Amino acid sequence: MNNILITGGAGYLGSHACLNLLEAGYGIYIVDSLENSSFESISRVNRFFKEKNKFADNKIKFFKADITNFEKLKIIFEHALCNNQKIIAVLHFAGLKAVSESEENPIKYWEYNVSGSINLFKVMELYDCKNIVFSSSAAVYGNNQNCPIKEDSSLIPSNVYGKTKKTIEEILTDLHFRKNWGVAILRYFNPVGAHHSGIIGENPISNKNNLFPIICEVAKDNNKKLNIFGKDWPTRDGTCLRDYVHVEDIIDGHEKALRLLLNSKHNLIKVNLGTGKGTTVLELINTFKKVNDIKIEYEFSERRIGDCGVLFADSRLSNSILNWKARKTLDDICRDGWRWGLKNPYGYIKNLEELDLSIYCEI
Ligand SMILES: NC(=O)c1ccc[n+]([C@@H]2O[C@H](COP(=O)([O-])OP(=O)(O)OC[C@H]3O[C@@H](n4cnc5c(N)ncnc54)[C@H](O)[C@@H]3O)[C@@H](O)[C@H]2O)c1
Repeated sequence: MNNILITGGAGYLGSHACLNLLEAGYGIYIVDSLENSSFESISRVNRFFKEKNKFADNKIKFFKADITNFEKLKIIFEHALCNNQKIIAVLHFAGLKAVSESEENPIKYWEYNVSGSINLFKVMELYDCKNIVFSSSAAVYGNNQNCPIKEDSSLIPSNVYGKTKKTIEEILTDLHFRKNWGVAILRYFNPVGAHHSGIIGENPISNKNNLFPIICEVAKDNNKKLNIFGKDWPTRDGTCLRDYVHVEDIIDGHEKALRLLLNSKHNLIKVNLGTGKGTTVLELINTFKKVNDIKIEYEFSERRIGDCGVLFADSRLSNSILNWKARKTLDDICRDGWRWGLKNPYGYIKNLEELDLSIYCEI
């Protein structure tokens, strides 16, 4: 069995990756500080998988640790070796992602994102683990690009968050050329929605900045209104336009990139994961209302400083290199995202479900 380390595996994208890789037959080691997530996501993933695979042994091991902690990361790789389960690749999701917070607290972002990644790479090198799929972001391109954005566009990030992602990309590129690492850099546009089962989804503990969780919150509470920033952008209806991708499609891109790295030596892949189409804020809200037959109250306010009107991907390269295409529609995104919201009105933390501690490893 191929064993993979998933950093940030309890988070939004990481938990979907855990389920996807379990279903694809991998063994999984997870490291997460639970800074912005809950162990319950992993507990649910394991339970869901075991319900469908009654005789499967536990194929997940969870370690609560910060990736800035060198010694703890070493223990995880050592643990895997001792169990004859060498970790052969890493999916690296762990990091902080709130743009506004990164502007307010740059040191924290450079430390968590960049120092944390360097620490991880050091331990990977120590244990001869040379394949990595990295969660990068459209934020590396900055705000002043012609759309659709191609991968060879200049990288001029407009905020600290984007700069940390660009720096990690550069380090990984060096590791590819100087140390023969297999590296897949996936630049996500706007991951949204939730697993179609409704058991896992986006549940930010701090910094609710993303539009989709806010739409769900407003849908749940008749007293709330959604704030739309700006109605005079150069788009079809004047509201910002983004490239929304279903979270299951984003994770499918990871599985494909991982397979490519494991089946070919020393690859370097840098691709966008986007649909190639833009959707405005109003279009997203109207689709959500239509497919879920629900009201969403909204009002307009001023543009936010540093925002940009139009951002969507050129998606041809991921299609040709990874044979990847976003398959789910905006209707699927809205339906699945709302199913998660309805089934879990308080997210993970307030559910009184028993946790599956058999996969929790103390370090
Ligand atoms: N969701 C998006 O819109 C989006 C878009 C582009 C890129 N990304 C990137 O994808 C990755 C995953 O994003 P997400 O939406 O799942 O975010 P998330 O916050 O839900 O997941 C990140 C996980 O990493 C953990 N973590 C943070 N710092 C850590 C540390 N120092 N050590 C160990 N664990 C740590 C958090 O507890 C969390 O579980 C991030 O790197 C993010 O920058 C996300």
